Amino acid sequence: MTVKKKANRATPKRATKIATQVKTKQDALSVREDVTPYIAGAYRFIDLFCGIGGFRIAFEKAGGKCVFSSDYDKFSQQTYEANFGERPHGDINEVDVTAIPFHDILCAGFPCQPFSIAGVSKKNSLGRLHGFDDVKQGNLFFSIADILDHHRPAAFVLENVKNLKGHDKGKTFRVIKDTLETILGYTIYTKIIDAKAVVPQHRERIFIVGFREKRDFEFPVFPEQGPLLGTILESRPHAKYTLTDHLWNYLQNYAAKHKAAGNGFGFGLVNKHDTTRTLSARYHKDGSEILIAQTGENPRRLTPRECARLMGYPDNYKLVVSDTQAYRQFGNSVVVPIVERIAETVMAALKKPAKQKLDLVLRDKKKVEDAGQIPTRIYPNTKYSAKKRTRKVK
Ligand SMILES: C[S@@+](CC[C@H](N)C(=O)[O-])C[C@H]1O[C@@H](n2cnc3c(N)ncnc32)[C@H](O)[C@@H]1O
Repeated sequence: MTVKKKANRATPKRATKIATQVKTKQDALSVREDVTPYIAGAYRFIDLFCGIGGFRIAFEKAGGKCVFSSDYDKFSQQTYEANFGERPHGDINEVDVTAIPFHDILCAGFPCQPFSIAGVSKKNSLGRLHGFDDVKQGNLFFSIADILDHHRPAAFVLENVKNLKGHDKGKTFRVIKDTLETILGYTIYTKIIDAKAVVPQHRERIFIVGFREKRDFEFPVFPEQGPLLGTILESRPHAKYTLTDHLWNYLQNYAAKHKAAGNGFGFGLVNKHDTTRTLSARYHKDGSEILIAQTGENPRRLTPRECARLMGYPDNYKLVVSDTQAYRQFGNSVVVPIVERIAETVMAALKKPAKQKLDLVLRDKKKVEDAGQIPTRIYPNTKYSAKKRTRKVK
């Protein structure tokens, strides 16, 4: 039985017919049919480098269904499991690409330390490699490329630090762009978005959205300024969040020293009428980037719940790890309402007919032939796919 390559979502009868075809074939091969999400009623997405599921909340709110998640950090896995009822798969390098289920959208906020300004200067000072040369973390982009290459989802959404664009004089971003566009054949859109439009935090992140077929897509438009800090503060935070005299003195002296030397920002003292600096994964160390002014007392740090709100997480989100881990997890996360708006626009773009013939590429030519299906285009054997990758495929 041949699954027709032309998607036709016009009638329920046609949809049922395709559903039957897809069902009978789905064990034999991965059928790339844009019509299937309408039958299932939701776009299926995978949540790579899922952390604590910021992408997942956003894509589920926009109507998506998560079919796979992966993160190797055991504390993030704990938080994810407590909130979504499933433990993410571990190290992506250990996951068999073919075992990842069929999906329409790939989501990934891939590790940013190899590209972030702070991460790069730390690695430089320790004499370590950064960017793609950081073998452990920099190469993870290519894990994403491998999955795109094999599964050919209709769309993807990637997130990273703003500095990704400028890292290594733009070379890193050029490799990413070339891999996604020239080698993998996706049409991509990129935008740096500041989360202060939706939460009281200045947090600029780059989003890369890609479509397998050409489609009408525009990033959502956000307001210049969103809510202020007062909207997310707890009324009676525990006294343990107030800085000790020792730490507060240290931070003030440190800031004064750096100010005198003409560099550094020191600490970021804010009140309820402000927008904070970017919450970092190192917030647990001294909390210096965001300190809340208090009358008659030393400033305090944000509580983990306030951090959750600062990242746009709902109040029913369960916090099940230590404060240290929670700060690290929120500092690494995405701002949920930003991703939610992007998810909505991506799904809206997928619902409209593609501007070119649907690309029912199956990576494995033999599998295609065995199944008697003629692909519209076989992904060419490029320098990327020819290159030996170090990842293990079980
Ligand atoms: C920037 S964070 C992404 C956070 C996520 N977007 C969220 O909303 O919470 C990157 C994540 O990648 C995970 N990670 C790093 N290397 C990994 C690997 N080899 N396999 C799986 N996960 C990995 C880290 O544990 C971290 O949680």
